[in-house]
Amino acid sequence: MIGRLNHVAIAVKDLTASTALYRDTLGARVSQPLPQPEHGVTVVFVELPNTKIELLEPTGPDSPVARFLERNPDGGIHHICYEVDDILAARDRLKATGARVLGSGEPRIGAHGKPVLFLHPKDFCGTLVELEQA
Ligand code: CO
Repeated sequence: MIGRLNHVAIAVKDLTASTALYRDTLGARVSQPLPQPEHGVTVVFVELPNTKIELLEPTGPDSPVARFLERNPDGGIHHICYEVDDILAARDRLKATGARVLGSGEPRIGAHGKPVLFLHPKDFCGTLVELEQA
């Protein structure tokens, strides 16, 4: 059911410093910061040949990423995103197995303008999983 790895998202405290690390130290191509107030984050996309890294900085203390950074003060991997062909079919199949879909269970529009859902980390090896319709 899942297809390509679309991205790995890393929560960071300092988006400017983290962007410079990826651009200057690691030599990657990085985007301009993209505010996403509806998700409580500002995002920088790091373009790799086979996938993307998303650097997520919380927009304020109420952001879910701010709470993640309280538990992980150095930053850390926040979620991984897999592509699926049909997000509603994927959701229904997962729910039928007992997996928990976060929020209302209805897809929202994610960072790339496509429908996304998040799955409970306790059901997936301790990893927050995002599904994005390819
Ligand atoms: Co994501």
